[in-house]
Amino acid sequence: MKTNPDIVYTKAQKLIELNLDNKYVAIVGGTGGIGRELARVLAQKGAKVIVVGRTFRDENVEGIEFIQADLGLVSEASRVAELLPAEKLDLLIFTTGVLAPPARRETSEGLEEDLAVSYISRLVMMNHLVPRLKEHGEKKPRVFVMGFPGDNYMGDYRDLNSEESYGAISTHMKTVAGNEALVLDFKNRFATVNFYGLNPGLIRTNIRDNYLGKDTWKSRVVEWFIGMTNQTAEQYAEKLGPLLVAPELETHSGAMFDKNANPILPSKDFTDDYARNYIKASEELLANLKLAQ
Ligand SMILES: NC(=O)c1ccc[n+]([C@@H]2O[C@H](COP(=O)([O-])OP(=O)(O)OC[C@H]3O[C@@H](n4cnc5c(N)ncnc54)[C@H](OP(=O)(O)O)[C@@H]3O)[C@@H](O)[C@H]2O)c1
Repeated sequence: MKTNPDIVYTKAQKLIELNLDNKYVAIVGGTGGIGRELARVLAQKGAKVIVVGRTFRDENVEGIEFIQADLGLVSEASRVAELLPAEKLDLLIFTTGVLAPPARRETSEGLEEDLAVSYISRLVMMNHLVPRLKEHGEKKPRVFVMGFPGDNYMGDYRDLNSEESYGAISTHMKTVAGNEALVLDFKNRFATVNFYGLNPGLIRTNIRDNYLGKDTWKSRVVEWFIGMTNQTAEQYAEKLGPLLVAPELETHSGAMFDKNANPILPSKDFTDDYARNYIKASEELLANLKLAQ
């Protein structure tokens, strides 16, 4: 991961000074892990936050509303996208995710599960929502895509659905690359909206449950070790708060940020053509499976 010298993000605004009154935010994946901590930080600073996920855990937190959905399904991603008040949103943030399980699993729509939840749901929702996002005052609406950008994971868009070969990690890396492609390709296609990538590094959450097994000794040991050697989801969310609304980002659509909210360069081999081909192959996969968006 390389620092991006072109972006001067001074972190002048501290979390304590952040006032998000009148900001409208949707966090897709805001019910658990990093997204949940982020929802709580933003709501505490005055934002109106809508979270999308399967299980709501913040009924008692003022400022957070919930939409329930299983985002493994394209039909659900489309339904929720239509429900979200796109025209009002200042920030649209994607933190949904799972890690691929050791053996390939498919959704009832025929998509490999990790691809469906961690990447395709975002593509479908962005296709619906981005054209409806509106400028507020002088400010462009912002879309933040959390994944693992900047680490040169290129994925393989010729076998996106992992039907020819399957490995949990190689399959997950297709979603990592897909999310980097979303930022870089939408940036080129929509000038009235700003797009950014977020790389949280390793954080103790439930993201590895599919792969390690929920509440297994392996999962407990791995998550304990990750917890001991990295920041918490709450600490990361506190760094993200000021970044999400930083004025310095306004002219840097396509920028990526690391676990400390420092600007990083996109993956070096991720050309505009590669990003376009990745999105095109994803749309073709949906068409081949006859999944209407
Ligand atoms: N944690 C890390 O070490 C790490 C490392 C690199 C990248 N990331 C990225 O960071 C982002 C956030 O991950 P996290 O660590 O916070 O994971 P997490 O704790 O597992 O949270 C994932 C979120 O996705 C939602 N979700 C999962 N499956 C869903 C489904 N079928 N339908 C609807 N919502 C679903 C969960 O909702 P429910 O709880 O309501 O089901 C939860 O809100 C992801 O993009 C991940 O790839 C994380």
